[in-house]
Amino acid sequence: MSESLANDHIAAMAPYAVANLSVREGLPLISLAQNESLRPPSPRAIAAGQQALKTGALYPDPDYPELRAAIAAQHGVDEELILCGAGSMELITCITQAFAGPGRRVLSSQYGYALFSNSAEKVMAPYDAAEEENLTVSVDRLLEAVTPETALLFVANPGNPTGTRLPNAELVRLRAELPEHVILIVDEAYGEFADGDDARLIPLVEQGRTIILRTFSKAYGLAAARAGWGLFPPELGSEVRKLIIPSSISSVSAAMAQAAMEDQKYMRETCDLTVQLLNEFCRRVSSNGLRCTDSRTNFVLNEFSSVEDAQSADQALREVGIVMRGMGGYGLPHCLRATVADAPIMQLAAATLEAWAKGDLT
Ligand SMILES: Cc1ncc(COP(=O)(O)O)c(C=O)c1O
Repeated sequence: MSESLANDHIAAMAPYAVANLSVREGLPLISLAQNESLRPPSPRAIAAGQQALKTGALYPDPDYPELRAAIAAQHGVDEELILCGAGSMELITCITQAFAGPGRRVLSSQYGYALFSNSAEKVMAPYDAAEEENLTVSVDRLLEAVTPETALLFVANPGNPTGTRLPNAELVRLRAELPEHVILIVDEAYGEFADGDDARLIPLVEQGRTIILRTFSKAYGLAAARAGWGLFPPELGSEVRKLIIPSSISSVSAAMAQAAMEDQKYMRETCDLTVQLLNEFCRRVSSNGLRCTDSRTNFVLNEFSSVEDAQSADQALREVGIVMRGMGGYGLPHCLRATVADAPIMQLAAATLEAWAKGDLT
């Protein structure tokens, strides 16, 4: 093979890990591997997308004024604080590009979302991970891990892949005890599943040095649209804005996201149904000796008693077409992460795990 022509640090990188979606030949794939929504997008979002197709000859306005206005109205924030990107992945990548690099370290927690370390690697920023306690982010451990070189601190709340969540009051304490030179990014990709916490984080953004990210990919069921947004203090947002690819969200996706934001009732129904199915699934598999994390998301981390058990359960699930996400890449090879899908699929998954636990399957 010829030598790579890429920059050394890119040549040394592994490609971003994606799920292995192979199942027994001939079976339709049932993916519980990607934390996607159990429902299609709101009918209003689909209609808005269809309408937007007619403007397909034109570039979208790169400031997405209508989408930002809809988000601002719903969340009670100044739209000047809002930036939109092609999924929160684009925003995470641009934040890291803007503020991290050699000598400007990125910090997250032990089971931090994989894109945090991946985007640090892209800009040659050293990456640190603070220990978690009981698969939950620890504010004290994060504070201990801060160094004078720490530029960014990413906390996904709730976390992926753990699903666990810190009360917002803990994040307020984290911000208060963090040195001024650290920018805190609270990634709330699953925030809608746990909304209702009284302590509001928006004042932290208004005070500066804190960014909050959200996405349309999860509770709004728009993973394919690639639309995310964040609240940025103006002095940080103006830098990140330079790095976002102009018009990176298509007009169709932006129209779908706007209509989805305006249809809160549909999104809330999705969250309620998800929580109900997640609880039922956990109740069932827990009675068979599996441990489920206390997830506040649309997925749950299942802990098996050994790596071998996780692998054999994974195999048994694939035999019926179900793929959960292996967690070896996160240092949790004894776990499988399961996205919550509709009731028949969750029943099939629970029944398969039950049969596997009883030794009825090989
Ligand atoms: C914690 C977390 N942040 C961000 C993302 C990326 O979401 P998006 O589809 O908005 O790029 C994900 C997707 O799984 C996630 O789990």
